[in-house]
Amino acid sequence: MYGLCGEQAMGQPPVPLCGSEKRATFARANKQASMTYDIYAFDAYGTLFDVHSAVARHRALVGPNADRLSEVWRNKQLEYSWTRSGMGRYRNFWSLTVEALDFAFAAVPDTNADARDKLLEAYQTLDPYAEVPKVLVYLKARGAKLAILSNGSPDMLESAVAHAGLTDILDDVLSVNSVGVFKTDPKTYSLVTDTYGVAPGEVSFQSSNRWDIAGAVAFGFACHWINRTGQPDEYDDLAPVAVYRDLTGLGV
Ligand code: LAC
Repeated sequence: MYGLCGEQAMGQPPVPLCGSEKRATFARANKQASMTYDIYAFDAYGTLFDVHSAVARHRALVGPNADRLSEVWRNKQLEYSWTRSGMGRYRNFWSLTVEALDFAFAAVPDTNADARDKLLEAYQTLDPYAEVPKVLVYLKARGAKLAILSNGSPDMLESAVAHAGLTDILDDVLSVNSVGVFKTDPKTYSLVTDTYGVAPGEVSFQSSNRWDIAGAVAFGFACHWINRTGQPDEYDDLAPVAVYRDLTGLGV
């Protein structure tokens, strides 16, 4: 099992927390983590793009419970993706994003639904995390293929990618919309292996969502969990190769 090992210095391999067994595990993990890959696939929301930057832009208009609204918005959006996949009742991710925001306004007191349209507009142009451009440039310079693999609908992904200035550096933006089911269905991860004609173990997959990492490990990707907020570990039978605080852990 992996502990929270994201406290390492920027760009350094993860360090063990404590215990000889854990140290041995991390020694193995560090070896694998220092490997380079020909293909890097990135989750989008929460990993490349800050999902809370939409509410942050309109905090004053949203009201005193802006952070709570943002949290409920994100949690409901994800819940809808899992329940709809389980039921076989797919609706695209943009629809779920709108429905989740409407739920959040109804559920969280002291919020101003007049901000609804502004928030939805902002969600199309979320801020990338600060290190994203330089990490992608670094990996690209090494000759790697770079792709997004996201639940996001094609339009919302295209808009976020363009706003972040990443259009030219990404080789592919793969949306689960083409398979009509959300992560963690194996069909979603196979979009990457089908695109590049490779085995899962040849793909380095990065996500900030531990549940997404679990799904991608089950599929066979070499996974790097970008644990930006210091979450405790879970899914102990589906461990990533390494855990980093941000994407510079990939070796920039
Ligand atoms: C994505 C969401 C799940 O981009 O973060 O797929």
